Amino acid sequence: METGVLFLILLAHLFSGAYCATFTFTNKCTYTVWAGTLSGSSSTPLAQTGFQLDQGTSTSLDAPAGWSGRFWGRTGCSTSTGTFKCVTGDCGTGTIACPGAGAAPPATLVEFTLGKDGGQDFYDTSLVDGYNLPFSVAPQGGTGNCSPSGCPADVNAVCPSELRVTGPDGSTVGCKSACEAFGAPQYCCTGDYGSPATCKPTNYSTIFKNACPLAYSYAYDDASSTFTCTGANYALTFCP
Ligand SMILES: *[C@@H]1O[C@H](CO)[C@@H](O)[C@H](O)[C@H]1NC(C)=O
Repeated sequence: METGVLFLILLAHLFSGAYCATFTFTNKCTYTVWAGTLSGSSSTPLAQTGFQLDQGTSTSLDAPAGWSGRFWGRTGCSTSTGTFKCVTGDCGTGTIACPGAGAAPPATLVEFTLGKDGGQDFYDTSLVDGYNLPFSVAPQGGTGNCSPSGCPADVNAVCPSELRVTGPDGSTVGCKSACEAFGAPQYCCTGDYGSPATCKPTNYSTIFKNACPLAYSYAYDDASSTFTCTGANYALTFCP
């Protein structure tokens, strides 16, 4: 009897963990980063929706099969105004946690859809909502294509003045997308530009693409910016 129960527990454990992925966040920046995690509407939130990551430290989070969501890094966070607030990537909750809340643009995003029943994971890095800091993703193990993705470059350094976001000390802390800055249909891929056939790279999106060729630079950037891997864990690195 007891052996039977133990066997069932073991079996349940094996199956629940079978296709789960571990995300390991590491901060290699010379400054503190506050990570944010936002689950898609049909996915359960991860154990942490926001956490502080001191320089040189790592934190791991598990996600179940089929999970989808996004990750980003917040910079310049403090409670000096009374509530927790960040210079970039703020999620607007007034706390370190971001339950159900995404990043204020501009923010470099890493997006995931994990496979179900042993299927492929899809992941990409997106600058569609602009850029705030270098952020990369690298599969660990897994089978299939499994290419690293990310935007390891300092896009703030090449950001044109009309897209630049400056911090309290006047330094460039983020680079807006042209859609965010100007709201024009050709930059946002809306209206007459609402399809891959009509929404083309622009002089602004090419600045992002040249700096980070593996990341989406606008909404209908070519599909080669999405990567696949099966059964992997993922290393997510700020300032790789
Ligand atoms: C991009 O093109 C627009 C419109 O043609 C122009 O006003 C702007 O100065 C250009 N910006 C850059 C960074 O090339």
